[in-house]
Amino acid sequence: MKSVVVFGSLNMDLVTRCDRFPQPGETLVGRDFTTVPGGKGANQAVAAARLGVPTELVGRVGQDDLGRSLLAGLQQAGVGCDGVTVDRDSASGVAAIAVDGRGENQIVIVPGANGQVETADVQRLATYLPQAGVLLLQLEVPLPAVVSAAQIAHSMGVRVILDPAPAQALPTDLFPLLHCITPNQVEAGQLVGFPVGDRASAQQAGEVLVKRGVAIAIVKLGEQGAIAVTADQVWVQPAFSVPVVDTVAAGDAFNGGLAMAMVQGQPLPDALRWATAIAALSVTQAGAQPSMPTRSAVEAFLADPPPTIATSSNQALIYGNSSIRLS
Ligand code: RIB
Repeated sequence: MKSVVVFGSLNMDLVTRCDRFPQPGETLVGRDFTTVPGGKGANQAVAAARLGVPTELVGRVGQDDLGRSLLAGLQQAGVGCDGVTVDRDSASGVAAIAVDGRGENQIVIVPGANGQVETADVQRLATYLPQAGVLLLQLEVPLPAVVSAAQIAHSMGVRVILDPAPAQALPTDLFPLLHCITPNQVEAGQLVGFPVGDRASAQQAGEVLVKRGVAIAIVKLGEQGAIAVTADQVWVQPAFSVPVVDTVAAGDAFNGGLAMAMVQGQPLPDALRWATAIAALSVTQAGAQPSMPTRSAVEAFLADPPPTIATSSNQALIYGNSSIRLS
C-alpha cells in the first residue's frame, strides 16, 4: 500500500478547560489543565496512522522534554518519525489552547522549531515521496518550505492535499500544484475575499479555488458538514450528530481520514463520508492526538451511523446521511 507522508508541525498543546472564554483583560478560573500532543502536521499523521495506512512525518522538534515526549507519542501511534529532525537551537512548538463548555476552542501557537523548517527538510521529505500516495501539508511551517514541498511532490506525481491553516495569503502558482485544498469556513473566506458561512457561499468559494487550479476544493463547515467542488461536480456531506466534548483537531482528523481514503482509492463521496465520520468521532473525545479514532471504531460508526445534522441554511441540499451529487 502507498503511504501518507505529512510535512508539517509538531506542538505540545497546553490545554485549559473553562466554562466560557475570558474577555480581554479578564481573569477566569479554569476547570482543569492538561498537556496533550498536538500540532496540525502531527495530528494529521496520527489520524492517518490510526486508520492503518503507513504514515511518515517530516518536521522538527526542539532538543527538549516536550520534543522527546512528542516523538514518543507519535511512535506509539505508529507514525514513522525518522523524518523528524531534532533542532538543537530551538524549543519545541507549543500551542496555548482554551476549550469552553461547548467544546469550542481558541488557539495561540508559538512555532519554535516548526518555524525553522526549510530547504534541508524538503530534501529529506523527497526521500519519502517515491512510496507516497498523498502528501499532506498545512501552514504551521514556513510558507516557502510548504511551496517547495508541493512543487517536488507534484513533479513526482504525488497528490498534494493542503490544509490552509492557519490562514494566510497563498501564491497563485501554488494552487495548480494542489490535488485538494481543505479550508474551514474562516480560511475559505480569507482565501477568496468574501464571507463563507453556509453551503451556498462555500460552494462559491470552492468554485473560485478550482478556477485558480485546484482539482478538488473541500470546504469544512463544522456542523453544516463539508462541501466538495470539482470542475464539473459538487458534493455535500452533512455532519453526523454526536455529543461534542472538544473540537480541537477535528479538521486534522478530517484531513488524515481524507488522505487515507485517497491512498486507498475511495471515490470522492466515500472519502468525504469517511473523513466526516472520523472528524465526528474525534470531537467526542478530549485532546488532539488522543481523540483520533482507530479504523475499527470508524467502521463500527459507519455501520450504524447517528443521524446527520439538519442545518438552517440550504435545507434543500440535504437528502440524507450519505454524500450527494448536486450537478
Ligand atoms: O488543529 C489543532 C492543532 O492546532 C492543535 O493541536 C495545536 O497544536 C495547533 O497546531
